[in-house]
Amino acid sequence: MALWGGRFSGKTRDEVARFTESISFDRRLYKYDIAGSIAHVTMLAKQGIIPEHSAESIRTELGKILERIEKGDFKYDISLEDIHMHIESALIAVLGDEGARVHSGRSRNDQVAVDVRLYLRDAVEEIIGGIREFQRALVRKAAENPEQIMPGFTHLQHAQAVLFAHHLLAYVEMFDRDAGRLADCRRRFNVSPLGSGAIAGSTLPLDREYTAQLLGFDGVTRNSMDAVADRDFMIELLSALAIFGIHTSRLSEDLILWCGQEFDFIELDDAFCTGSSLMPQKKNPDVCELTRGKTARFTGALTALLTMCKGLPLTYNRDLQEDKVPLFDAIDTAMQILAVYPPMIDTMKLKGASMEKAASDPALMATDLAEALVGLGVPFRTAHHRVGSLVKYCREKGKALDELSLEEMRLTIPEATPEFPAMFDPKASIAKRKVTGGTGFEPVASQLAFWKKQLDLA
Ligand code: ARG
Repeated sequence: MALWGGRFSGKTRDEVARFTESISFDRRLYKYDIAGSIAHVTMLAKQGIIPEHSAESIRTELGKILERIEKGDFKYDISLEDIHMHIESALIAVLGDEGARVHSGRSRNDQVAVDVRLYLRDAVEEIIGGIREFQRALVRKAAENPEQIMPGFTHLQHAQAVLFAHHLLAYVEMFDRDAGRLADCRRRFNVSPLGSGAIAGSTLPLDREYTAQLLGFDGVTRNSMDAVADRDFMIELLSALAIFGIHTSRLSEDLILWCGQEFDFIELDDAFCTGSSLMPQKKNPDVCELTRGKTARFTGALTALLTMCKGLPLTYNRDLQEDKVPLFDAIDTAMQILAVYPPMIDTMKLKGASMEKAASDPALMATDLAEALVGLGVPFRTAHHRVGSLVKYCREKGKALDELSLEEMRLTIPEATPEFPAMFDPKASIAKRKVTGGTGFEPVASQLAFWKKQLDLA
């Protein structure tokens, strides 16, 4: 019989049991559920609510249940709904009345809120660790190629010459903020809801601060109704993951473009690609494509949780059981991406000559010309216009900017000096960029030094 069976005379229909169960997905919370119960009974005994020997037996038995679950020696049955009831039933099956004391002053509503927070603490730590590894791989690749020049793009059009390292380090910045957002949401969710009961706290003299301390929480939730009703901590976490997903998806798109024939900037290692069943020549960047695809799950999970919570009356409603499906999926997806991406970056090869060739497009230096004119005292808008006219002239004559003589340049840029026709060397252009955060050799070297130190890279 179900643990809540007292007021029921009829049996749950099989379809309903299958419809309402959550054991198929919340079983992954077992460790945290057991840790919560151990803390709870320890507090109950300290407060004289249950005898010390009962607490002792319960703790011992919970330890055995943990071992059984980890050995795969634990039977799951949908008639017991969820992980909380499975563990409580297993306890009662062995200890009888002693085991039946474990749920004093507790509801599954506060229990599940505790379990998920404990689970997320570990998950967030793992994800942040994974993000740091991802950053390290990017920094290593940037450091291996500190002077590699490539075209930078805006609107996916050649914009200005940049350093490849600068491009990779842009993602390192993004991932740093992602890790920061995760750490920040952990700070807010690391408070204990235990003792909130179903909605209203308890008439028993619970010591909530004590269980919070035993479980490593930073404090206790202040309002029992808030504690069992809200899932904003999951929403925050999913929004942090959704943003991380957008970043990884954009990186994936960059890499997909770069290994395509039109760009030909990089080659991904065979271990991270697959072929086509039909076209013998194909080597597809599947890891990047699947990352781009899988990150949709984060946005989906975030949308699911927002939609689920919108319009829910306080406090707990069974709808909230559905929170775990997208939450777990998002966390698993993040871990999968973090497992494949760093080694793919580490083994990625640059096609330096090809990048350089693309970066030697003289049009990339048009802005440098305009800035040189500013240096000569020409107002920027005038300079911009003159260089624009020069580009137009080139298009009409079918010439490239670096094929013009000084005389031709002076047709649209009267101020042009003899250095102007030689200003199309991308390397010289990069060397002139000293502004903090810019793509010059010096600022990029300081970025690299900063991240190496920050990420403990030699
Ligand atoms: N399995 C439930 C969940 O995941 C646990 C809480 C159930 N509470 C209840 N009163 N039915 O949300």
